[in-house]
Amino acid sequence: MPPMPESLPPKVKIAPPDEPLTDGVVTLRLWRSDDAPAIAAACQDPEIPRWTRVPSPYAEADARAWLAHDWECWASAEGAHFAVVDAASDKVLGSVGIVDFEWDDHRAEIGYWVAPWARRRGVARRAVCLLCTWAFAELEIVRLEILPDVRNVASIGVARACGFTDEGVRRKYMVIGVELCDCVSFSLLKGEHPV
Ligand SMILES: CC(C)(COP(=O)(O)OP(=O)(O)OC[C@H]1O[C@@H](n2cnc3c(N)ncnc32)[C@H](O)[C@@H]1OP(=O)(O)O)[C@@H](O)C(=O)NCCC(=O)NCCS
Repeated sequence: MPPMPESLPPKVKIAPPDEPLTDGVVTLRLWRSDDAPAIAAACQDPEIPRWTRVPSPYAEADARAWLAHDWECWASAEGAHFAVVDAASDKVLGSVGIVDFEWDDHRAEIGYWVAPWARRRGVARRAVCLLCTWAFAELEIVRLEILPDVRNVASIGVARACGFTDEGVRRKYMVIGVELCDCVSFSLLKGEHPV
């Protein structure tokens, strides 16, 4: 095979952190194949397919297929998802990750869900903060975005709680469920977030 021309940009690579990311209350670790039942159980909650791209109905086989896709995303630098687990028990509490990288523009979009059994106790806020710290420190990323549907008050609350700036509404911006939705544009820049 001929050598790559030097003018081509190097292929972007991302490496998972050597150790899980933790603040002592929640831990972000890589997903494992034995997490599929917990993912499927959490995704029975209608709020998750309502506000994310998780399909409905959702079975354990869907979770296993998504896990395989997740590992491909890490390998191809297209996404970087973490299981959010209880720091003490390792129980699955949710999912957080970078769902879309725009490497040329040094920007990425964050997505998350928290299982119904773990909500309203700061799990999403803690998980997003840990993810931002890691992404700004380890990746060539300058801007992180959260794009919740304008009606998703819980996710808007998470973005605000994590210090993201509300930049206004992107009208008819993204298909969520079966609908083209208006989304709030939230961003956090490197340097705005303590590392
Ligand atoms: C959005 C979601 C991840 C929030 O998870 P969570 O762990 O319960 O959120 P937190 O406890 O960290 O909440 C942080 C802040 O967000 C706001 N918030 C969270 N849930 C809220 C709700 N149901 N109603 C109003 N505000 C809410 C609050 O301001 C909260 O701070 P407070 O509890 O100190 O008042 C969870 O409700 C969920 O999984 N929803 C379905 C999937 C989804 O919407 N994903 C995001 C797509 S953009």
